[in-house]
Amino acid sequence: NGKYTVSFIEGDGIGVEISDAVKQIYSAADVPIEWESCDVTPLFINGKTTLPQQAVDSINKNLVALKGPLATPVGKGHQSLNLTLRRTFNLFANVRPCKSIQGYKTPYENVDTVLIRENTEGEYSGIEHTIVPGVVQSIKLITKVASERCIRYAFEYARSVGRKEVLVVHKASIMKLSDGLFVKTAEELASEYPEIKLSFELLDNTSLKLCTDPSDYKSLVMVMPNLYGDIMSDLSSGLIGGLGLTPSGNMGDKVSIFEAVHGSAPDIAGKNLANPTALLLSSCMMLRHMSLNSYADKIENSVLKTIASGPEHRTKDLKGTSSTSNFTEQVIKNL
Ligand code: IPM
Ligand code: MN
Repeated sequence: NGKYTVSFIEGDGIGVEISDAVKQIYSAADVPIEWESCDVTPLFINGKTTLPQQAVDSINKNLVALKGPLATPVGKGHQSLNLTLRRTFNLFANVRPCKSIQGYKTPYENVDTVLIRENTEGEYSGIEHTIVPGVVQSIKLITKVASERCIRYAFEYARSVGRKEVLVVHKASIMKLSDGLFVKTAEELASEYPEIKLSFELLDNTSLKLCTDPSDYKSLVMVMPNLYGDIMSDLSSGLIGGLGLTPSGNMGDKVSIFEAVHGSAPDIAGKNLANPTALLLSSCMMLRHMSLNSYADKIENSVLKTIASGPEHRTKDLKGTSSTSNFTEQVIKNL
């Protein structure tokens, strides 16, 4: 039928409402996509969080998925499903762009950062022990293989979008071995990308400089280990108006999963208050990845226009008075 099939993980909490907004807008925009709904309610096999085979098969078949937020379970042995997905499909680079929205004023103007986060290891390896009561260990695992494929992705990304610099954000002054290996791996790759400048900055300094003058980061691509990327992407979101606005793509060699940076926000779930922008912009990254650029432009322009059109069309997180459903209607009108 000339349509692409994409796996859709609607998610928990506000996931239901924002996924519904995406579906309505996609059908109004005549995007040639058929959604294949994926239930990822985990199974616990031998104490391990395991994805239902049907969901794994769907994503392996379609190669592209859009994902709403999934709640992170508390307690030992219950691994985050978000991490399980990243690991299952070997999604080694997490691309997190963050761009000021014209027409939504914050103390910062012209933020235009791209952060690429190593997505499979570091403090997220899940290797933790109690040695004796009161003494614990959480291992930060860094490998050359994972560092290299992520940093290479950053170089390739910079090349493809015409950014002239890759900035490695690290703390090798203290994490001498782990971050040291990350830094060294970047240095070794640099000769393959002679037209791109490679530079380095300490994480604490980047934090300071990003919230002093983010315009210094406009023409480069940041790349960093997993946990730093987690933290710095929230910081970046804060500069432009919060987590309701920032998209991401979890990229692997074959599969990619696009998702909002925010969580499932159980406090506002089911109240028609959630902002679907982050998931919508993630879906636009997805459309561009699928070379459906004209649909991406159409939806993105309409979302940005809606936000810029005033507080009556913005959700509460953006100091507006609009509900999720009113916002969605307005985006459809502006298509
Ligand atoms: C993110 C989220 C996840 C993370 C959580 C939900 C496991 O905060 O995508 O940034 O820590 O990576
Ligand atoms: Mn995070």
